[in-house]
Amino acid sequence: MKLTKEEKAMLAGAYGEGTSLAMKVLVAIGEAYDAPYMVPVTRTHVALSNQEADLWFAERLAKGGAVCRVRPTVNPSFNWRACEEFTQLEAEDLAIVKRTHAAYTKLGAIMTYDCTPYLERNVPRFGETIAFSESSATPFVNSVYGARSNRESAQSALCSAVTGVTPYYGFLLDENRAGEVLVHVDADLQDDFDYQMLGYLTPRKTGFAVPVFEGITGPSKEALMNLGAELNTGGNVALYHIVGFTPEAPTREAAFQGRKPQKEVTITRPELDAMREELSAPGGKIDFALYGCPHFTIDQVTTVAEMVKGKTLAVPLFIMTSSLTKNLAQKMGYEEIIRQAGGYIIDDTCMDQPCWKFLYGKKGITDSPKCAYYTKRRQMEFVIAPLKDSVTAALEGRY
Ligand code: F3S
Repeated sequence: MKLTKEEKAMLAGAYGEGTSLAMKVLVAIGEAYDAPYMVPVTRTHVALSNQEADLWFAERLAKGGAVCRVRPTVNPSFNWRACEEFTQLEAEDLAIVKRTHAAYTKLGAIMTYDCTPYLERNVPRFGETIAFSESSATPFVNSVYGARSNRESAQSALCSAVTGVTPYYGFLLDENRAGEVLVHVDADLQDDFDYQMLGYLTPRKTGFAVPVFEGITGPSKEALMNLGAELNTGGNVALYHIVGFTPEAPTREAAFQGRKPQKEVTITRPELDAMREELSAPGGKIDFALYGCPHFTIDQVTTVAEMVKGKTLAVPLFIMTSSLTKNLAQKMGYEEIIRQAGGYIIDDTCMDQPCWKFLYGKKGITDSPKCAYYTKRRQMEFVIAPLKDSVTAALEGRY
């Protein structure tokens, strides 16, 4: 790769071992993808996972003196103070949270602990070159805003945050942003939940290609959040287009950059229903309800609060969200309503964390296939249902 004088200095260790390692990783990625050079990034988001490998790398960079030139926002870990209200935490889990916090703080990250930064705190503009990790975030920033990011790992995004650059390849190039497979959506998508199923099912038909959806009108921000999260749970999709809606797809021709689709597929209502049937545990008695994968918006919190107002939940209900949304929910009285009913709003927390150990072996309900997918390895089972239906189930204790 052709490196600038400054990039060569970073690689050679002029800014310390941590920065040198970050540049070494980026050069290796660039060489693997035949990138000719690096380009500057103006935003970064790191999918901090609070797990051992994540901690190992962050501590190694921090010990090597690395400091972020483009400060990243970060994904949730778990808010131990909030979780202690309903569970007892283990000392080793608590230790990792604190070490992770210390390492990322030392690196200069902005400790947002939020997996939907693209809605509130780290919002790119059209055409901006950025390095974002996190499965729902990358397709959102690429597709909905028209910013340019590869599907970064937490580590590669952190290396870009430290060095301020990323290798020029993949979705940063015009030609790689063209749609590849035309997806006719032959189903009336009635609510945000339908987009969960559309997202999970699409990669089964389109593989790694860039899908171009036709037949979708006016999706909400929650629908788009769900679509991106599931495109990257059922598959591996960093960019999609919606004809007549996303900025790089004013027309079908524009979405494909004048090329012919490699193939065309159709998605129907019976297929979406069958997808849900396949992903969901059977109905019956449930032990809890868990929401916020990705983090809930204030509108989703409002829906829950309105449904449980003045009632008592039959099972505990947990909502994960950003600290900004939690603060808003407090100000607007929603948190108090949900608490009175027997539920909790927890900020800074991800469902793929050991703070949920007390739910292992139990059966919950959620509106998120991604939540159900990740928690399988933690022996949790989920009925997957539209938000309102699942809150009704939490009020009744069964679905
Ligand atoms: Fe967010 Fe964790 Fe789900 S980062 S999208 S709550 S897996």
